[in-house]
Amino acid sequence: MTLITTVHSYAGGVAKSATARDLSAALALMGHRILLVDADHQADLSVSLGVDVDEEFANADDSFACTIGPAVLGTGALPKVREVYGLDLIPSSITLYNLEKELKSDVSMVVGLRYALDEIRALNLYDFVFVDTNPTLGDMATLALLAADRVLLPIPPNRKGLRAGSFIRARVEKGHYHRLNPGLKILPPVITQAPNTILARQYQAEIESLFGGTLGVVRYRPGLYPSAMERQTPVPFLDQGDGRAEVMAIAQAFLKAVEVARVP
Ligand SMILES: Nc1ncnc2c1ncn2[C@@H]1O[C@H](COP(=O)(O)OP(=O)(O)O)[C@@H](O)[C@H]1O
Ligand SMILES: [Mg+2]
Repeated sequence: MTLITTVHSYAGGVAKSATARDLSAALALMGHRILLVDADHQADLSVSLGVDVDEEFANADDSFACTIGPAVLGTGALPKVREVYGLDLIPSSITLYNLEKELKSDVSMVVGLRYALDEIRALNLYDFVFVDTNPTLGDMATLALLAADRVLLPIPPNRKGLRAGSFIRARVEKGHYHRLNPGLKILPPVITQAPNTILARQYQAEIESLFGGTLGVVRYRPGLYPSAMERQTPVPFLDQGDGRAEVMAIAQAFLKAVEVARVP
C-alpha cells in the first residue's frame, strides 16, 4: 500500500520543503521506500537534494520533461526518478511555473497529478510518496491536495503559523478541499522552527490543543538548516546530534499516525 502525503501551507518559509526533505530522508533511512515529488516551481526541495534541472539543461523543454509537468498536461508520462539519499525524487524546475497558467486554461488538468500518482500506487513501488507544494491557495496546491491521502502541515509556533494551520484545516475537513477529495485526512502537524521562548511555547500549546497533538517539534536551528541547504544534504545525513534525533522522532510519530510499521 502506498500512502501519498502532501506537505502544505499557503504560508511561505514555514519549512515545507525542509519537512518534506528530512521526513522522507528519515523514513528512507529506516528502510521505507520513498518517492519525493517536488511540485513547487521554486525547486528548493530539489536543489537542496543536489538536483537542479534548470542548471543541467539549457533548453526549458528538457528541464520541464524532468518534472511532473508532462504527466499533468497529459502529454507524457512521469519522468525517470533521480536517486538521492536512498530515496527517489521527481524534481521541479522553474518551468513548472507555466503549468499554473495551463491549469487556468483547462481546469480539468487539476486531476493530472492524482492520475499519475494513482498509476505509481498501482505498481506498489513505494511505501510513502511525499509531495512538496508552493505557498499558495491556487491551482498548484489544489493539484497536490487532490492527489493526496493525507496532508501534513508544518506550523511555526507563531500567529502566522497558527492562522495558516487553522485555515487549511477547515478547508480540508469541511471546505473546498474536502468536497474535491473527501478521502483527504489531516495529520497532526509538525511544529517547525520553534524558538525557545515563552510566546512560542504558548503558540505550541494552542496548536497542540487545536489539532489534538502534533508529530513533534523541530527547534529553530540556524546553524544546521541553512547548511543542509548549502551542502545539499538532508538533516538526518548531516547531523548526528539533536537535530537528527528530532527528525527521526517525527518520522516515528508519522509512522504511528499512519499506523504503518513496515520496518524491514
Ligand atoms: N528548524 C529550522 N531552523 C532554522 N532554519 C530553518 C528551520 N527549518 C527551516 N529553516 C530555514 O527556513 C527557510 C525556509 O524553509 P523552507 O523549508 O524552504 O520553507 P518553505 O518550503 O515552507 O518555503 C530555509 O532557509 C530553511 O533553511
Ligand atoms: Mg518550499
